[in-house]
Amino acid sequence: MRYCPFFYSEILKKKRSTGEVSGYSLTLENAIKMKGLGGYFDVATKKVKSYDMKKYLLGVTGGIAAYKAVELCRRLIESGHQVRVVMTRSATEFVAPLTFQAVSGFPVHRELFDEAAEAAMGHIELAKWADQIIVAPATASFCARLAQGLADDLLTTICLATAAPIAIAPAMNQQMWAAQATQSNLDILMSRNIQIIGPGKGAQACGDIGLGRLLEPAQIIDHLKTPCTTLLQGQSWLITAGPTREQIDPVRFLSNNSSGKMGFAIAKMAARFGAKVTLVSGPVNLETPERVSRVNACSAEEMHQAVKNSVVDSDVFVSCAAVADYRPATTAEHKIKKNSEQLDLSLIKNIDILQYVGALAKKPFCVGFAAETQNLEENAKGKLQRKNLDMICANNVGDKQIGFDSDQNQLTLFYRDGTTYSIPMADKTDIAIQLVERIHQAFTNT
Ligand code: PMT
Repeated sequence: MRYCPFFYSEILKKKRSTGEVSGYSLTLENAIKMKGLGGYFDVATKKVKSYDMKKYLLGVTGGIAAYKAVELCRRLIESGHQVRVVMTRSATEFVAPLTFQAVSGFPVHRELFDEAAEAAMGHIELAKWADQIIVAPATASFCARLAQGLADDLLTTICLATAAPIAIAPAMNQQMWAAQATQSNLDILMSRNIQIIGPGKGAQACGDIGLGRLLEPAQIIDHLKTPCTTLLQGQSWLITAGPTREQIDPVRFLSNNSSGKMGFAIAKMAARFGAKVTLVSGPVNLETPERVSRVNACSAEEMHQAVKNSVVDSDVFVSCAAVADYRPATTAEHKIKKNSEQLDLSLIKNIDILQYVGALAKKPFCVGFAAETQNLEENAKGKLQRKNLDMICANNVGDKQIGFDSDQNQLTLFYRDGTTYSIPMADKTDIAIQLVERIHQAFTNT
């Protein structure tokens, strides 16, 4: 078997340009969708496989959200992982085992005492086979049995018999989720390092609204990829993201193309790595990441005020927002009429929020961004000095594939001590993981 190693973001560029893989482009496109996973092209099977390919044991318990587990199974397989499915008896009331068999390509395991299944792959063998167990949806009853260490069906027995990490994605009625018994069971599970993924908030099948919805398959996979850690525990991070809007009149404003994706990805990862995160966000259309405290700000002045309010308690400040450098000298009270051929706007300079933080007597560890279309290094280093930063992330926003309003980015980090580090082009989530780790390293060395 021959393997062609490559990093997923390079796949299309390299392979298409050489014409080496014509006919496989769809599979390669899929590889790019395998967010954050390194991959290789398996010549024997002509398929892209991920470097961190895993053997997942997907446990499905009996809840209305069991249908979403089919999509989870499909996505895991599409990303190159192997999946075996174990269903509880009540799960089979919601989804037919045949559906999972068709999607996973393997018979579904259901009973502890099934001679045929035991002969093929016994429960202990399954428990040893798995690299990771994910139970989705995990009902309140399953969480309780897992917490008690019961081995009263195939799934709980496997969970007890495995050395693999276990993750559960709970889904239940909001009142059942809030019940003290459920919360105590979850505390027990967390104390045993079982990863709890979700639940989400929203309308439930029973008509209630609240916490208890199974997260979407893509979100579950995202959590499995980057489980929560305690790397940044005890640290407070303040992050700005998105554009600002500077009003010209009640209906018009000056702004830019920042989507907020980069800053939100950093906030999400910092929170997932255990930091207390405050995210000051300009007007964007993004959901607040879990465990992140969000403060909305529209103009540069509002963003400055929000940063001022939170910066005192912060250990790290990451200034990812594309703050407008100028604002109209006056904002018209009424909509400006189209009365003349030319309209002159007088602009005045906004405060530089990052420079303000960098000049504080007790300043946090300061990380700036430099969005440049020319002289990237020179301009970035100039900002590092002028704004008294510890690190700056140079962003070549002249490249349409990265930077403003794209899903990908590529950064060059310049440190105060003259060190340089390059983060190659990747999805913004992956860039954020690497950046947060780099910031943490530099912060703890100061
Ligand atoms: O939001 P996305 O669509 O995901 O795009 C991400 C991004 C391209 C916006 C991001 O990666 C980025 O480069 N952010 C910085 C944008 C910017 O305003 O760069 P700048 O070179 O003009 O500013 C330098 C630094 O000073 C930045 O850290 C900026 O946040 C800060 N600044 C600038 C002006 C100002 N008045 N106050 C500031 O704090």
